[in-house]
Amino acid sequence: MYRTKTCGELRIDNVGEKVTLAGWVQSIHNLGALSFVDLRDRYGITQLAFNEDASDELKAKAASLGREFVVQARGVVAERYSKNKNIPTGDIEIVVSELNVINASLTPPFTIEENSDGGDDLRMKYRYLDLRRPVVRQNLELRHKMAFEVRRYLDEQGFLEIETPILVNSTPEGARDFVVPSRMNPGQFYALPQSPQTLKQLLMVAGMDRYFQIVKCFRDEDLRADRQPEFTQIDCEMSFVEQEDILQMFEGMSRHLFKTVKGIDLPALPRMTWADAMKYYGSDKPDTRFAMPIVELKTSEADNASSEIVPTIFPEGFQVFDGARYIGALCCEGQAVLTRKQIDELTEFVKRPQVGAKGLVYARINEDGSVKSSVDKFYGPDTLALLKEKMQAKSGDLILILSGDDAMKVRKQLCELRLEMGSRMGLRDKNKYSCLWVIDFPMYEWSDEEQRLMAMHHPFTSPKPEDIPLLDTNPAAVRANAYDMVINGVEVGGGSIRIHDARLQQKIFEILGFTPEQAQAKFGFLMNAFKYGAPPHGGLAYGLDRFVSLFAGLDSIRDCIAFPKNNSGRDVMLDAPGVIDQSQLDELSLSVKLPEA
Ligand code: AMO
Repeated sequence: MYRTKTCGELRIDNVGEKVTLAGWVQSIHNLGALSFVDLRDRYGITQLAFNEDASDELKAKAASLGREFVVQARGVVAERYSKNKNIPTGDIEIVVSELNVINASLTPPFTIEENSDGGDDLRMKYRYLDLRRPVVRQNLELRHKMAFEVRRYLDEQGFLEIETPILVNSTPEGARDFVVPSRMNPGQFYALPQSPQTLKQLLMVAGMDRYFQIVKCFRDEDLRADRQPEFTQIDCEMSFVEQEDILQMFEGMSRHLFKTVKGIDLPALPRMTWADAMKYYGSDKPDTRFAMPIVELKTSEADNASSEIVPTIFPEGFQVFDGARYIGALCCEGQAVLTRKQIDELTEFVKRPQVGAKGLVYARINEDGSVKSSVDKFYGPDTLALLKEKMQAKSGDLILILSGDDAMKVRKQLCELRLEMGSRMGLRDKNKYSCLWVIDFPMYEWSDEEQRLMAMHHPFTSPKPEDIPLLDTNPAAVRANAYDMVINGVEVGGGSIRIHDARLQQKIFEILGFTPEQAQAKFGFLMNAFKYGAPPHGGLAYGLDRFVSLFAGLDSIRDCIAFPKNNSGRDVMLDAPGVIDQSQLDELSLSVKLPEA
């Protein structure tokens, strides 16, 4: 038997027991005649003690150990002389009588401890060593627990876990496909699923009623902290449901996860329309851990986010505001203390290309209630007092104002500024959770690149019944039965009620610019299936990686994935992607044409 106990389980009550442990050497301390070794496994760390009266052979063996050697130690559990309060096994040690080196180790390229000294690339190259660090391992344990509780909840609700194929054809989630050449069908390619969207709808036509799958999805898109080219969805679909049924079911699942995994009683989830989210937070995934909503100071036309036209409070005089079609502002509580230098930093922040504003106007509310602003020379005290009133600002507050021609663009800039201020003001505590549903998304968004309307969710999403007449007159104004779950400004999940009527589906394809032939060629399999009795259905998918990283308080989803890709989509450990042999290319009838350097 390799071991009788793990390195995490022995306590003061075990003193006197004879035990065998096995694990990795984390560290070695030599104190003259005494030496100590910290032995680590998945469950914890236990101290091994080699005493003065140990045999010379045993002492020599202990002296030969190096970091990360795999060893087996037998001995008796003893109370420690100097206890370590930081670890659960800190009261005891093993007085070793027998030591076996099972496997030696090269010196690891970084120390495998709580705070690693390896840079990101090194950690990824030796990910199997990185995973020995408790902080990373704990993320995988959390991920396991969450996936397990998801399965438990959905099983109790009558969902069937059904696998769907990975070698499919293009699925419509709006990213580029990863493709796989087919040897048996020369010149033809499979696409990896961006999600199992169409397959789960076919499972509803097949009468499965309640489906789920914890499933890999593949999207060739630009990577960010919360995006990986392959990621995992908790993918779900239900038949004979309306939007309300789905919101209830999955609010229940989130509540179950919060309770069982974090011990948190999640209150009922507030619902915000997409229009309000854009108007007040400049984002369809508002971080509602703090308030600081956008206040509109001028709008020039009604749009998807705001139907009322707000006349400006600013008289003519300041060119920037005179010419702007939209002016919006934030009131930052207690921030009048910011120095000129700090405000200059904020100005630089909003001017960064990622944010894209031209400049920042500010107004401080002084202790006596008077207003001091960067545009004092253009506006009199009355205008500034009106600004203060509109913003409901108090003494000590700071008002930050952005303006521009395109309301949606300025709202997004205000969103970035709001998040930046939220972070600076310590309002984005990772241990605090604020969850909500964002509902009533528009069906379509205009793509400048493609010069056409694109499906905001995906083309199978059903319009709100009351908006169907608008499909012919003003499709951009049509709202969808689509919803996202947002936690702390992160979109953790999203879905919709689907179209189950072949004719309506055909019409939606037309608006998206597909000819009937193109629609038939791409999605004929689904539309044909709908002709054989499709139940009303809908569903959603959560991003498991995002959900886990929120629970773990991580900045990037990478650290809750065992073997993630880096920002260029590479697996640096496996050195993938890589070139393939000419013979393999020949077999696949492929030739490679590299872009010119
Ligand atoms: P959607 O495209 O919104 O919907 O994806 C669902 C959820 O998956 C997560 N997600 C990602 N996570 C990590 N890396 C990525 N590249 C990535 N892309 C998406 C997000 C997102 O909310 N078929 C529909 C669902 C449905 O309608 O039922 C779909 O895939 O958390």
